[in-house]
Amino acid sequence: MTDKKRDVNQSWEEKSAEWKKTAYETVSKDDAPNQLLIDLAGIRAGDTVLDLASGTGEPSISIALHVGGKGRVTATDVTPNMLNTARQRAERLDLGNMSFEVCSMEALPFEDRSFDAVTCRFGVMHASDPLAALKEARRVLKPGKNAVFMVHGPRESNTLWTTVHVVAPGLLHIDDSKRVEHHFKFSEGDELTKLFQTAGFDGIEEKQLCRTVVKSDDEPFWNQLLARDYGKFIEVLEETQQAELHDGMATAFREYKEAGAYKLLTAQRFIVATAM
Ligand SMILES: C[S@@+](CC[C@H](N)C(=O)[O-])C[C@H]1O[C@@H](n2cnc3c(N)ncnc32)[C@H](O)[C@@H]1O
Repeated sequence: MTDKKRDVNQSWEEKSAEWKKTAYETVSKDDAPNQLLIDLAGIRAGDTVLDLASGTGEPSISIALHVGGKGRVTATDVTPNMLNTARQRAERLDLGNMSFEVCSMEALPFEDRSFDAVTCRFGVMHASDPLAALKEARRVLKPGKNAVFMVHGPRESNTLWTTVHVVAPGLLHIDDSKRVEHHFKFSEGDELTKLFQTAGFDGIEEKQLCRTVVKSDDEPFWNQLLARDYGKFIEVLEETQQAELHDGMATAFREYKEAGAYKLLTAQRFIVATAM
């Protein structure tokens, strides 16, 4: 490991290979946030739903299962290879009610008033123009229908993510501050709510989901996050350096360990708003 700190800013296209390796094969194995999002958006069987920044298929796969054969989900993302993984998951599940469109959320190639719901999970913080994205979401929603945008809750309520992203960059001697800044954009305050107001939405409300997730000590649960965000730095490490990194992670997580299991916090904010 070198002493010089490297900037680790990678494009989503570069990140997509690690995201593909660590995506769920078919259905989500941590579906509670997706189900709450579906509920808050008021999505029903037969609805036509647009999901923005779908990445490898969260929450669009869960929504497609929910709307059923008479419904339709359009999964969109600006990064073709992220969306390819979502498409493969849909194929494995034989979901014939999904379509996939590479596009930016700031310029949607869809007709006005054409969707029963617009959803976006962990995407709006990455948009170069979040207000443009919200205006587009409002434009394509049918009147009276909802948009739900999910973002991360505060750092201290996300101990799994925060621990990995504070400890690993230190051990890898890299500067990952830009990622951390993006990740927690909109995690506090009312900036996102105000953008929804400016975009012309009504009935804007916020809900939160705060959970304690329990991870067994059988396996290093931090591997998925490490691989997604630092895979290219880890694969070039020698075996002893990799062991050092994993020891460092285990030490950092020790404070969350109780009776053989790790108890970690995760929190999301959901902004729900109606198009009129
Ligand atoms: C953190 S991932 C979230 C993926 C997925 N929704 C999830 O929760 O796992 C962010 C995604 O936003 C996409 N993205 C970034 N900027 C975007 C934009 N302007 N328009 C559409 N998608 C964008 C990236 O390609 C990436 O797939």
